[in-house]
Amino acid sequence: MKARNFFIETYGCQMNDHDSEKISGILCHRGMVPVRSVKEADLVIINTCSIREKAAQKVYSRLGEIRKKKGERKDFLIGVVGCVAQQEGTEMALKAPFIDMIVGTHLYHTIPDLLDDIELSQESTCEETHVNTTFLEDVAPVEMISPTTRNSSFRANITIMEGCNKHCSFCIVPFTRGKERNRRATHIFDEAKKAIDEGYVEILLLGQTVNAYRDPTMARYRFSNLLYDLASIKGLKRLRFTSPHPREFNDETVAVISESNVICNQIHLPLQSGSNRVLKRMRRQYTREKFLQIIEKFNACSRPVAFSTDIIVGFPGEDEKDFEETIQLIKIVKFESMFSFKYSERPKTEASFWKDTVPEIVKSQRLTNLQLLQKRIQLKLNKKRYLGKRFPVLVEGKARDGINLFGRTTTNRVVNFLSDKEPGSLVNIRVKSIGPNSLKGEQV
Ligand code: 5AD
Repeated sequence: MKARNFFIETYGCQMNDHDSEKISGILCHRGMVPVRSVKEADLVIINTCSIREKAAQKVYSRLGEIRKKKGERKDFLIGVVGCVAQQEGTEMALKAPFIDMIVGTHLYHTIPDLLDDIELSQESTCEETHVNTTFLEDVAPVEMISPTTRNSSFRANITIMEGCNKHCSFCIVPFTRGKERNRRATHIFDEAKKAIDEGYVEILLLGQTVNAYRDPTMARYRFSNLLYDLASIKGLKRLRFTSPHPREFNDETVAVISESNVICNQIHLPLQSGSNRVLKRMRRQYTREKFLQIIEKFNACSRPVAFSTDIIVGFPGEDEKDFEETIQLIKIVKFESMFSFKYSERPKTEASFWKDTVPEIVKSQRLTNLQLLQKRIQLKLNKKRYLGKRFPVLVEGKARDGINLFGRTTTNRVVNFLSDKEPGSLVNIRVKSIGPNSLKGEQV
């Protein structure tokens, strides 16, 4: 029987979210129908994340649950895509032979043909796992994956580049996403214009090192040019991008962001560590001094910029002094938000061969201390920068309580408020109360 209903379960980053949108677009193009649960589906695809070990482990326990449906229905299909699929490939097929297809991060456009093959082989009862994890030289052909299904009615995700050439010693991304590959600016424009014509008011540009972007046909056309030109498209209200590498922020990019009122004044600057010794071993290609210089450049802009960051604690060889330097730097910069992680050893990465690991209990202590400090900083910043002030907020949808709506400021802060406005509307909100992690406001 031909699979008709599909369900995609997505883990990990925004790049994965968007890949799932692309896969959904391809499957709809094949005449299939998206459904809301595993229960209703003939095909379930798990889009996986392998950035840390915990995320990768989750895949197998989830597969175990979904597999139960195979017992009930012989023709039920399971697909695994994303970073764990890319990383493990045939090894995954050996560990979980009940999976029907394993597709790597460059090959989502091949899924319809694979499904045809699988359905044929089901008829002849020679079932096997179809594994396809080759890397392409060029950017994954997004243009062939058209039309993308968009999960949001107001924010359009647009891939501008894929892969990473940085090879940070802790990071698995170069192994799961491959080398840097850029999309042509003209293709990006066409997609952006179409989305805006369709009524999208916000664009989120995506890439593993998004600000390393260069047009493959015009090397002088870089991220700053792309930002400037996209921000000039009539009808676009907000332009965001993720995730950048601190080293790739040049003066031109800072200037373009500083002078625009469409490009959001929020910058994610993944610091990882405040210790030069650790940064060097991480191969981050900047020092704490250089990092501070970038912050200062943004702080000299005509409008305020909110920073967020990522920190890893317990990287091999990180001692108390190194950690203290991270704490000191965080006190200086005062990020508005932070994602913090215990170092997790990833296969094939350079750091996974190093023996000077930090004990789990020390990692946990450092993480707790870091998070306590960050909570205090956020509470102070929220009071100083948000309480009692007015902000344009883009409505996103119903808040968790089911009563309020939630939306975001240009600085990417979530605010809850009462309103009857539709998602995608801009409303003026005065912030009435704050906590370390939340803002509550009223429409004015
Ligand atoms: N261990 C812990 N955290 C990691 N990250 C990336 N690789 C690892 C790892 N091996 C974090 C970094 C990165 C974020 C997306 O995930 O902080 O910026």
